Amino acid sequence: MIQESASPHIAVLLNEVKEVLCPKDGGIYLDCTFGFGGYSRMILDSCDCQLVAIDRDPNVITHANQLINDYPGRVNFIQTGFAESFSELGSLKFDGIVMDLGVSSMQLDSGDRGFSFTHDGPLDMRMSGVGESAADFINKADEQEIADVIYQYGDEPYSRRIAKKIIEHRRLEPITNTARFAHIVRSTIGFRKGKIDTATKSFQAIRIYINDELGQLARFLNNSKNILAPNGRLVIVSFHSLEDRIVKNFFKVNSAKLVARSKYAAKVLAEENSKEWLKILTKKPICPSSREVALNPRARSAKLRAGQKIDGTTYGS
Ligand SMILES: C[S@@+](CC[C@H](N)C(=O)[O-])C[C@H]1O[C@@H](n2cnc3c(N)ncnc32)[C@H](O)[C@@H]1O
Repeated sequence: MIQESASPHIAVLLNEVKEVLCPKDGGIYLDCTFGFGGYSRMILDSCDCQLVAIDRDPNVITHANQLINDYPGRVNFIQTGFAESFSELGSLKFDGIVMDLGVSSMQLDSGDRGFSFTHDGPLDMRMSGVGESAADFINKADEQEIADVIYQYGDEPYSRRIAKKIIEHRRLEPITNTARFAHIVRSTIGFRKGKIDTATKSFQAIRIYINDELGQLARFLNNSKNILAPNGRLVIVSFHSLEDRIVKNFFKVNSAKLVARSKYAAKVLAEENSKEWLKILTKKPICPSSREVALNPRARSAKLRAGQKIDGTTYGS
């Protein structure tokens, strides 16, 4: 199942997510990154279940309302960051949670959101539309802060040079639109025709920083144990190495099997073992097929990892 439609966002690894999540009649599922609702619809079509969908972007509410109409009595939508959703989810325990991280094509393709260096628009980049915008940061932060963000979140080796140029340009006039920001980056480190645009890493870095994408992910994962039902599955699709590292480490740490090296260590290890609450379902990440990438190039860097909450254990929290 690969979406080929002209929909504004093509869901990535849809079939693989379905297979790993394994939605079941009577289950209750959480889609943390609703977007255009590709995963939500797949879950609702797979079985007779209930669904809670979350997205921090107010622009998706019309799509969420459409879903609520199409599946009467089965869907609840919450507009919030998933890391802030726990109080609203209350005591619900989910049989499955899906996360499809990053931005949607709808966000990337509309110039007025400021995510794209191919469409000019305000330098905004806020998924939720509130808080500090990319322009606020670029025009106020000091040179070192800007260099650090571009280096840490964009892995950009020329981060210092770019930050220096940003400071020079903003002295002339505040940098308020994406085309000017992209031009500053390209004119600093060069523009290689036919290659990946040299503004890519800086745009990714500022976006990750402005939306606290890594903090949101880490905070959600750290609480996920409390909202998963026994045997509940956590399925995560990530798009860059910073996210994937957080997901991979989270699965590793929470599924760690400790081996007693001496009989005296056994008691300590038994206690520590109570922290082990996840079973890894994907030894290696699942990646899109070449056919999927040909149909949807934006899927190319996707990696799916999944785990399952172990049943019948008393967990320390
Ligand atoms: C890649 S898209 C998801 C697409 C969706 N799976 C589909 O099939 O249409 C990511 C979506 O997650 C939302 N998002 C990203 N980070 C979020 C967060 N921390 N909390 C809530 N929503 C988030 C974005 O606003 C965006 O709409």
